Amino acid sequence: MKLFHINQEEMDKRTFFKSAALAGAGLFATRIGTTATPDLPYLRLFSPGPLTNDQGEYVLPPLDYPYNALEPHIDEQTLKLHHDKHHAGYVRGVNKAMKAIQGAREKNDFSLIKHWERELAFHGAGHVMHSIYWKNMTPKKTSPSGTLKKYIKRDFGSQEAFINYFTAATKSVEGSGWGILAYQTGTDKLVVLQAEKHQNQSQWISIPILVCDVWEHAYYLKYQNKRAEYIRNFFDVVNWDDVGSRLDHLLDMA
Ligand SMILES: [Fe+2]
Repeated sequence: MKLFHINQEEMDKRTFFKSAALAGAGLFATRIGTTATPDLPYLRLFSPGPLTNDQGEYVLPPLDYPYNALEPHIDEQTLKLHHDKHHAGYVRGVNKAMKAIQGAREKNDFSLIKHWERELAFHGAGHVMHSIYWKNMTPKKTSPSGTLKKYIKRDFGSQEAFINYFTAATKSVEGSGWGILAYQTGTDKLVVLQAEKHQNQSQWISIPILVCDVWEHAYYLKYQNKRAEYIRNFFDVVNWDDVGSRLDHLLDMA
């Protein structure tokens, strides 16, 4: 298996982007030496667009549905605040960190580099995870199909067993964080992970394909302390077509 192997010629041709933080999601990446948007398979994981604009600045992706489209499972007020305020804050934060780090490099002054690297990881991972989360949801009723369905059955026994496991793991994330269904490169398996905050992912070789936000801002207005109920209802709006296409895309890269 040669997952994520890109040869040198390919890198040069496509303007290789360098992993800046490999923060929580294990995928946060920034490009160097160019402002053009490269067509790299990694970026299509966040389809339809990359995380940055042509100036290389991180941008807030629009939602594919209206703020009230996921009612009653995800309420309009929460969704609006979550996207327009919280996610937008991560985008501002990662751009600020990138600018500060660029300034530090230009001045060769790295006295605050620890702070800015932490900011880069925190906000960058938040941007990546939320960009996946919005795409992972839809007002349409979907269900796992194709390879995703096969892999869920193979690795968890059944769809129901997977949801029970994912819900239990996600409910028990300590403090703020995420439940993650990830594809584990190198083993060709699906795994369920917890991530505290965003940047504390435990397996660098695992690529998120389904993420459930369990920071309180994601559910507290409607569900208060009933985190498990929110997770159960999250599954009523999961976009399995999106999850399946992320897995297919990763397998295509093998
Ligand atoms: Fe969030």
